[in-house]
Amino acid sequence: MKGLILAGGAGTRLRPITNTSAKQLVPVANKPILFYGIEDMVAAGITEIGIIVGDTRDEIMEAAGDGSRWGIEITYIPQDAPLGLAHCVLIAQDVLGNDSFVMYLGDNMLQQGLTEFVERFRAAQDAGGADAPAAQILLAHVDDPRQFGVAEVNDAGEVVRLVEKPDDPPSDLALVGVYLFDRHIQEAVRAIEPSDRGELEITDAIQWLLDHGHRVVHDVLVGWWIDTGKKDPILASNRYILETIEPTNHGSVDDASTIEGRVVIEEGAKIIESRVRGPAIIGRNTRIERSYVGPFTSIAADCEVIDSEIDHSVVLERSRIAGIDGMADSLIGRDVEVSRSGQRPGALRLMLGDHSKIDLE
Ligand code: DAU
Repeated sequence: MKGLILAGGAGTRLRPITNTSAKQLVPVANKPILFYGIEDMVAAGITEIGIIVGDTRDEIMEAAGDGSRWGIEITYIPQDAPLGLAHCVLIAQDVLGNDSFVMYLGDNMLQQGLTEFVERFRAAQDAGGADAPAAQILLAHVDDPRQFGVAEVNDAGEVVRLVEKPDDPPSDLALVGVYLFDRHIQEAVRAIEPSDRGELEITDAIQWLLDHGHRVVHDVLVGWWIDTGKKDPILASNRYILETIEPTNHGSVDDASTIEGRVVIEEGAKIIESRVRGPAIIGRNTRIERSYVGPFTSIAADCEVIDSEIDHSVVLERSRIAGIDGMADSLIGRDVEVSRSGQRPGALRLMLGDHSKIDLE
């Protein structure tokens, strides 16, 4: 079984904050979203992964490299334009060969790993025969199915129809961005026509499988799932991921500090006369001094939080927060300074980048 991760497509609106134009590289709990997908595949025993890359290919290739850090082999597959998810399968043919594969949308994150999902498909394939499924899809109940591919499932629990972003959804079951296919999908992606939005839709390719007598089985997702392309990508996913972390301390905590709950303290980080309440991550070489860091906060590497209180927030690399009480629900980009100068007359002195948003008490 191979892996195919889709990390092409349009860039992110978050560039002014995250300094990356690839939405798949936005950091969640100090790790790029894309890495969660790769690591889920590795945990499911997949060692050969193709990654579809578009305009942001240089950033993606630099971040993920050749895969050796995970003990796997990554092959990059350039896509000239975002022509659709089924187009990605089409251009990945050389890498995929006739193998079955997991396709993972690089901007999706899910709590449930891939292992069970992959094992179930493998077992069904091995059992073989005419009954072996050509595809296994993952569905989730959502509030607004019109933003997704939607599945219609009959009373017998079989998928009978799939539609992409319908105005009038047949159910509230959205297609999650993880799919398992065998070689028949290659025939399907060659047979379908582009949709009204000009893309070769994977949803149409799966419908083609159904129309041509192939079995498509499904699982309904357990646990959370985020399509980071659609929701508040950083704070929400950060909260979910922090709920799952295991506490570690590779930094130093002085006697005057307290650490409560699940807190990851990375190498070289220093906690001085402070209180950190997990779940939280304190990044490499970051210094927390005379401060309170509250739940659901990720502070990246090389930051300083001095005489401040911060909670439910994400702070990216090399930023400095000094003398600030009650910072919450905030997203702080890289190399940002938030401080009190004490200058008179007292005033709010701001230098804000594009797309900034400030909410004063
Ligand atoms: O997130 C689940 C949804 O993902 C499904 O419910 C839909 O059926 C499916 O079509 C897809 O919809 P999106 O509109 O969210 O797809 P998006 O354009 O955001 O692309 C998903 C990922 O695939 C993203 O990481 C970019 C990448 N991509 C996308 C296209 C269209 C490519 O690499 N190449 C492409 O041509």
